[in-house]
Amino acid sequence: MNLLVTGGCGFIGSNFVRAMLEKYPAYTVINLDYLTYAGNLRNLEGLERHPKYHFVKGSICDRGAVSALVSKFAVDAIVNFAAETHVDRSISGSSVFVETNVGGTNTLLEVAKDHGIKRFVQVSTDEVYGSLGASGAFTESTPLHPNSPYAASKAAADLLVLAYHHTFGLPALITRCSNNYGPYQFPEKLIPLMIINALNDKPLPVYGDGLNVRDWLHVSDHCTAIDAVLHSGNVGEVYNVGGENEWKNIDIVRLLLSHVRKPETLITFVKDRPGHDRRYAIDAAKIGSKLGWKPSVKFEGGMRSTIEWYQQHESWWREIITGEYQDYYRKMYADR
Ligand code: NAD
Ligand code: DAU
Repeated sequence: MNLLVTGGCGFIGSNFVRAMLEKYPAYTVINLDYLTYAGNLRNLEGLERHPKYHFVKGSICDRGAVSALVSKFAVDAIVNFAAETHVDRSISGSSVFVETNVGGTNTLLEVAKDHGIKRFVQVSTDEVYGSLGASGAFTESTPLHPNSPYAASKAAADLLVLAYHHTFGLPALITRCSNNYGPYQFPEKLIPLMIINALNDKPLPVYGDGLNVRDWLHVSDHCTAIDAVLHSGNVGEVYNVGGENEWKNIDIVRLLLSHVRKPETLITFVKDRPGHDRRYAIDAAKIGSKLGWKPSVKFEGGMRSTIEWYQQHESWWREIITGEYQDYYRKMYADR
């Protein structure tokens, strides 16, 4: 198979590219990434000379470039990770989220249709369902109710994907996953940001009362779920992916402080995220029963290995947190 992965230099995409090359030595993997602030060639260091791997710098919004690439590599399948992904950034400015997440997905769908692509997997998110109360979990039939500009842009993309399947018979599928953690996650997201601040003895900025709940899944388990959907999912369908592993933010922060042996006095409660979704929880029964997928990484061990990864890859995150990141951090946290 000639597999086009978009956004392969980001957190989940880079883990997925490695997993595919390892598991399917006969596949050719083409990684199209625009190298935004979140894209990092170092995430795929060591693969530069891999005979089955090709990196192409470009945008999913550039129809001519995507079309040429699909022809050149005789692409059979597309897995679309490329996106703007940080909720707080979407609150500061939503335009690029619409351009990339909606416009870019639309461009990929047009090219996929024109070239008769055999499988198209859209990597979506549980955030399209909105927020839950104290009980219950999102199923694939939960109505869409996105609350942030990020979530709204992902929901719009999902609707386009389903429309392309319905109208043109495009063999498209959607995954909607809960919060991921693991190696190579950009340190604007909760877990890497807190690990790095703790290692640097900096305050850990917990939004609001810290009681918002997220359902955490190790990135390697998300990758096996996407693999299952790519190879065995039913076209036109949505598959929820999650770890049945709900944690309050404050408890996650306490857990990681205890791992790195730093004091809880570093915890600082700051102004809440506007429109902050209270709780996410995924019902992943469908992908379990239909495709036999289940998570394999236990949270305690996964967190320990993730923290160790950040401790052992200091040059990776130091490079990121100098430069542009400092402006971002000041803007995001100065007035909180
Ligand atoms: P990320 O921010 O780490 O990486 C995004 C990647 O997309 C970067 O490499 C960036 O350079 C690339 N990109 C951005 N705009 C592009 C464009 N126009 N053309 C080509 N490449 C472009 O994101 P992530 O956390 O790895 O998320 C990947 C996907 O998974 C996203 O679609 C996201 O919505 C979805 N998702 C993420 C999570 C999570 O917890 N991180 C959970 C569920 C779903
Ligand atoms: O649920 C899947 C989604 O998970 C993905 O679609 C998104 O791309 C990904 O960014 C993530 O969204 P969240 O908003 O849940 O993740 P984030 O890491 O930004 O925040 C997790 C929780 O921690 C959330 O309740 C906000 C809180 N938080 C976050 C940061 C960055 C803090 O309390 N302090 C912080 O500094």
